[in-house]
Amino acid sequence: MKNRLKLRNIGFLWDLEEPLPKSGPKKKAGIRAATRKDSERLRKIVVDAYLPEWSWWVRQIGGKERARADLMSYVSKFLRDRKKRIFVAEDSETIIGFCGAAKYDRGTGTIGYGVAVLPGFRKRGIGSMLLLAALDWLKNSGVRFVTLEEETFGFANQDTPAMILYKSLGGKIISDHHATR
Ligand SMILES: CC(C)(COP(=O)(O)OP(=O)(O)OC[C@H]1O[C@@H](n2cnc3c(N)ncnc32)[C@H](O)[C@@H]1OP(=O)(O)O)[C@@H](O)C(=O)NCCC(=O)NCCS
Repeated sequence: MKNRLKLRNIGFLWDLEEPLPKSGPKKKAGIRAATRKDSERLRKIVVDAYLPEWSWWVRQIGGKERARADLMSYVSKFLRDRKKRIFVAEDSETIIGFCGAAKYDRGTGTIGYGVAVLPGFRKRGIGSMLLLAALDWLKNSGVRFVTLEEETFGFANQDTPAMILYKSLGGKIISDHHATR
């Protein structure tokens, strides 16, 4: 039997009627909505962009190739649906990070599998730019309330980089509980 993992689940909420923080001097250059033509380039980086924070999940799902298949089924679904978008960040033709956004009915939406940036490109504001692009698109499409769920392992008593990012861009924690998987 597989070892059960003690995880922490955190739910975030944005009310887009409240002003979003400005991305400041950082420019939005290099951020755009992906198309189906980007699938192969996304496939190359999808797993690495979640490491090392999600290595527990990669192990649990049965390795990198299974993780890639799972992530690509999410990405492909989002690329095919008019009510969904994958925003990507590029650095000289290479995709270095991405963030999914989906509109639901009645003015609500969600941020797919959160924001992910390749380890070598983190802490330069790229994650913030991706999340702001996704929130901007949702807001301009008439969405008011946006949810996001983050699952963490090994961060029972401290915030993950993703939590720091979500909080710094106005996300409010609406649930925080421990779970086993
Ligand atoms: C979360 C993640 C997307 C952040 O990307 P990033 O490009 O480094 O983010 P930014 O540079 O825009 O940083 C955003 C804020 O978080 C802070 N931050 C980012 N990484 C941090 C770290 N390792 N430790 C402490 N603070 C951190 C930054 O200081 C910044 O705050 P500030 O603007 O107030 O200074 C990136 O760490 C990542 O891809 N992690 C793995 C994937 C993941 O777990 N995604 C969440 C899935 S739900």
